[in-house]
Amino acid sequence: ITVDWDAVTAEKGGYEHFMLKEIHEQPKAYRDTMRGRINAEGNQVILPELNLTKEQIKNIKNIQIVACGTAYNAGLVGRNLIETLVRIPVENDIASEYRYRSPIVSPETLVIVVSQSGETADTLAALREGHANGAHVLAVTNVVGSSIAREADSVLVTLAGPEIAVASTKAYTSQLIVFTLLALYLAEVRGTQTEAEVTAILAAMQSLPEQVEQILAQKDAIKEYAEQISKHEHLFFLGRGVDYAVAQEGSLKLKEISYIHSEAYAAGELKHGTLALIQEGVPVIALATQESVLEKTVSNIKEVKARGAVVMAITQEENVTDLLRSVDQVFVIPRTLPLLSAALSVVTLQLLAYYASLALGHDVDKPRNLAKSVTVE
Ligand code: AGP
Repeated sequence: ITVDWDAVTAEKGGYEHFMLKEIHEQPKAYRDTMRGRINAEGNQVILPELNLTKEQIKNIKNIQIVACGTAYNAGLVGRNLIETLVRIPVENDIASEYRYRSPIVSPETLVIVVSQSGETADTLAALREGHANGAHVLAVTNVVGSSIAREADSVLVTLAGPEIAVASTKAYTSQLIVFTLLALYLAEVRGTQTEAEVTAILAAMQSLPEQVEQILAQKDAIKEYAEQISKHEHLFFLGRGVDYAVAQEGSLKLKEISYIHSEAYAAGELKHGTLALIQEGVPVIALATQESVLEKTVSNIKEVKARGAVVMAITQEENVTDLLRSVDQVFVIPRTLPLLSAALSVVTLQLLAYYASLALGHDVDKPRNLAKSVTVE
């Protein structure tokens, strides 16, 4: 008898790569991260891990979200959620920049450090900078016993399970779930959302795992598109608001594992320089999930189309007809609240990066020059 698998193959659970396995584990990661944090009536978030009194929460004057790479990108969505739902000013900082810019931190600042591994050196240094200035530091991490978890004042764990692939996928989306729960919790304490609003958001969150499955079912079409873009050297991602935040994550994901150069742009910023790079045949991926700015994004799409770009758009079901007239291809995400779209649209981009890397024959799980955890500055 010959046994043609080894321990690593077994760990991949039938998937060709850890990244693909982890992409498929997202519905479970969403459910696990929400479990026990929403009350039975579905109208309240429960976060006993947050070591802040209601009084302290009411006194928060500003929030700083500090992280690196994909965790930083999750923080961009976190800012959108917190500012929209809680109306507290939020700044996003790249951890390696944070302590060198003389950040204005006080005991009324909530510093949120985000790290899958909990070991990233610059993020740990940011945590200490927050402490040195008397701030409460909340860690969002996937590793309970990590250095960051041990030193933080409060820890909100993402229950994504171990993430092996260098390219972060399920950790990012679980961070989005944690940010949504946190924003709802803060909103409740500070009275910035009604019970009906909170209930509607929580109900929409609980549909996300099933909706991710629907996106995963589109993988053959995404693979086909990824094979087309893998022939290009440059590519652009566009979006407004939360779509711009997701564009940045999509661009990072594609760069790190396919080595295709890409840039993410706030759609309205294009004409301030980058439009000069758009010429015949350049692929542009436009995120257009936000109905409130759809018209504006469509007009940006027309600008790049007029210069010969080949445009793929990601949108929600109800916008498809408007978009189809102006783009070459559309991928649809199931209908959700505008605030929650990142947790769905990013899955399309993760699959896109995965299949582009695969088409180019790269080592998907271990891209060149990169390590899973960066423990040096
Ligand atoms: C993600 O795909 C990257 N490999 C990288 O940007 C990563 O997110 C970053 O190094 C931060 O890691 P952390 O979450 O473990 O702190």
